[in-house]
Amino acid sequence: MAITWSEELATGVALIDAQHQELFLRINKLLEACNQGRGRNEVGSVIKFLEVYVIAHFAEEEQHMINYHYPAYRDHKAQHTEFMENFAKLKGLIDSEGVGLTAVISTNHLVVEWLKNHIRKIDRALGEFLRARTVSVASARKDP
Ligand SMILES: [Fe+2]
Repeated sequence: MAITWSEELATGVALIDAQHQELFLRINKLLEACNQGRGRNEVGSVIKFLEVYVIAHFAEEEQHMINYHYPAYRDHKAQHTEFMENFAKLKGLIDSEGVGLTAVISTNHLVVEWLKNHIRKIDRALGEFLRARTVSVASARKDP
């Protein structure tokens, strides 16, 4: 079952949305691989991708929050930290046990659940805040 991108997931911040969509593409490749029985081979490469990509993506979001003095910064950052902790556990599991079925299931659970909950709620709230701030900053600049 593929994860489908839809407008209801959009934060309205172009760079963040583009990164989320890239995340969707990668995760769908993993899900497809699992469905075709190729999951065990694919998990390792998805893990490698996520490790680099997610760190950069979180840093991007957190920089936006700092720049615009986002009031829920600490809570949002805490979720990013929690994801990275779970991710580290998953990586540890793969390092010790190899890319087995448990790792495939855990990867699916971690990334799919995170996407559903984090992007749909937490990132969209951030997007709403950033859009309001960006509009007010832009209109303030237009004022004489
Ligand atoms: Fe986020």
